[in-house]
Amino acid sequence: MIFFNEKERVFKLDTPNTTYMIGIVDKENFVGHIYYGKSLRDIDAAYLMRTEEPPFIPSKNNRERCSFYDCFPFEYPTSGVGDYREGGIGIRTAAGHVGSMLSYISYEIIDGKPELKGLPATFGTEKECMTLKLVCEDKYVGMQVELLYTVFEDVDVITRSVRITNIGQEYFYLTRVNSACIDMDNKDFDMVSLHGSWARERHIQRKTLGYGIHNVSSFRGESSHQDHPFLALVDKNTTQENGEIYAMNFVYSGNFRAQAEVTQFDSVRMTMGIHPENFCWKLECGESFQAPEVVMVYTDKGFDAMTNTFHKLYRNHLIRGVYKNKKRPILINNWEATYFAFDTEKLLSIAKEASALGIEMLVMDDGWFGKRNLDNCALGDWIVNEEKIRGGLKYLVHEVNKLGMKFGIWFEPEMISPDSDLYRAHPDWAIAIPGRPGTESRQQFVLDLSRQEVVDCIYEQVASVLRSANIEYVKWDMNRQLTDIGSYGLPVDRQGELYHRYVLAVYQMQDRLTKEFPHLLLENCSGGGARFDPGMLYFSPQIWCSDDTDAIERLEIQEGTALIYPLSTMGAHVSDCPNHAVGRVTPFDTRGIVALAGTFGYELDVTKIPQEDRDKIPGQVAMYHKYNDLVREGDYYRIASYAQNHKYDCWQVVGANQKQSLVTFVQVLSRVNFKSIRICLKGLNPDMRYRVVFENDDNIADKVYTGDMLMKAGLLVPVLWGDFQARLISLTNLE
Ligand code: DGJ
Repeated sequence: MIFFNEKERVFKLDTPNTTYMIGIVDKENFVGHIYYGKSLRDIDAAYLMRTEEPPFIPSKNNRERCSFYDCFPFEYPTSGVGDYREGGIGIRTAAGHVGSMLSYISYEIIDGKPELKGLPATFGTEKECMTLKLVCEDKYVGMQVELLYTVFEDVDVITRSVRITNIGQEYFYLTRVNSACIDMDNKDFDMVSLHGSWARERHIQRKTLGYGIHNVSSFRGESSHQDHPFLALVDKNTTQENGEIYAMNFVYSGNFRAQAEVTQFDSVRMTMGIHPENFCWKLECGESFQAPEVVMVYTDKGFDAMTNTFHKLYRNHLIRGVYKNKKRPILINNWEATYFAFDTEKLLSIAKEASALGIEMLVMDDGWFGKRNLDNCALGDWIVNEEKIRGGLKYLVHEVNKLGMKFGIWFEPEMISPDSDLYRAHPDWAIAIPGRPGTESRQQFVLDLSRQEVVDCIYEQVASVLRSANIEYVKWDMNRQLTDIGSYGLPVDRQGELYHRYVLAVYQMQDRLTKEFPHLLLENCSGGGARFDPGMLYFSPQIWCSDDTDAIERLEIQEGTALIYPLSTMGAHVSDCPNHAVGRVTPFDTRGIVALAGTFGYELDVTKIPQEDRDKIPGQVAMYHKYNDLVREGDYYRIASYAQNHKYDCWQVVGANQKQSLVTFVQVLSRVNFKSIRICLKGLNPDMRYRVVFENDDNIADKVYTGDMLMKAGLLVPVLWGDFQARLISLTNLE
């Protein structure tokens, strides 16, 4: 719900368990942040803005206007006139000046949630959400800023975004646009973020928030392997089950910066938005700029609660398409099986074996087009190589379909190889600084998607392949980050728009693709998981998590990813051993159990793996079918973290009515002469009795316990013989 109290000039936004309050202050109508936290009953909280304390509001003390600007809790700060903290917005006028300050003008409360033009965003019906639009202006710049807040009724989330319009007589530039800002008192916070690298994505990092500026960011042109567009400020004592968390997640797939600034007065300014590096957007008179959306979650119930809030929001209000709440086909991808060395016969031999084992879809990865037998050519030439795909694509797909399997295909539409017909014809279609040799990465350049003719040409190529055969899945890859930021197509004064225009074009292409081929299962990917973000999830219900498919490495990657994203979104495959990324050998069972926590599939040459491994596939397929509804839609709880305890990992999912639950336990290195491990479960009904079955261990007898016992006293997982052992433990309510 959203209320406006005209007398107090206070806006109150309520989700089921949280309240957010905004106040209008002084004759100049400054917009102040009052409160964000646990639900409040009353509205008279404006005193929290401390306007009765020195340096006082300008109408009472204009002598210290600058000091006021530098400590007032602004709802959406500006810069250049006295607030020295991170600004929400940065501008440069036609005359080259940078100062601005916003005053409140009007408001509107709207049922539902307006779309954000050209951008992915959360959505909801008029019954599910309500939006507050606060209109502010800087009359000197000629700038109108609309602050948008959407309150979800069924989940404790408020989303924010900003729309800026030039209402003046002259153009100006936007040099910084944050989408959200919260100014609050510092509570001795820790900062939690997700950090990584290629094959090591989204490891959880927690550190003390001292004075000064702390941020995570990417200006690599994508949300990146390295940092993630997520930031949480958490109480020092916050645990999985208890404690306060203020979290922000950016619905955007390009450059971002998420920042916490602890000030001289022990306040914290938490901001999130497009990274200002090389960002400069020209706004002509009458033009608007729509900033991407930030999802804000507050809880006082620890990480499990935060996680389930994000999961619920993304499952119900972000992910779309036919696979939104559906089981995905179990796929086998030929990448780690063959790399570039495949042809029709090889693919069909994999498909034949796979279909007999219960696998439901064959995905043909990189290498089927142009002359691509290595990663050094042909990106941009999306023409089937019939020397490899003998008989043509239609024939291959038909043969795969005859086996009762679906067929999927890989593209990397945003790229161009210097050795490609496309590059030879259009060298100016690559992103480049004119006159300067471009920096190659994986021997490829990035296409300049700010040019509509480039977008149209690539889209048509991709679409005509998809139109040519019964293709039911696309893996959309992106294997390098952006450098040499320059466009042959953009005028001088719009070169600073390239990064954002690039992201908008990716969205436009995926929007067209999903509209023209609504039945497609789209899986995004970026050199593993470099673009695993809510922006991409709006278009594809699943994203490849990491090129590291080793089950043990995956524990930390999947823990970090699942901190925010539902398990249904995490691309996870069983691969061959020794693992191609780390050389580790793990039991086939463990590889299956870890992959079952994601979308589940295989990435190995099923005709070559040991017979004893192959024999296990039908059992794993059965486990997938038995438990995927629960894994996909259930509440997720972190029971133990290998990243923290360095011994074992454990997570649990619980079905909506608490009648069913699945616990995954992975012992990493085995230890000698120890007792069983006691794990306390979560989310069960204390009054229900559950049958506890170790699905993949006949030596452990079934037991029956109450939820109360399992949650308070715990379950014993016996000592497991050998390294890298995993157990899948199911709990079923006894009626
Ligand atoms: C990177 C992806 O993450 C891999 O799965 C594979 O598709 C390769 N690209 C292909 O080039």
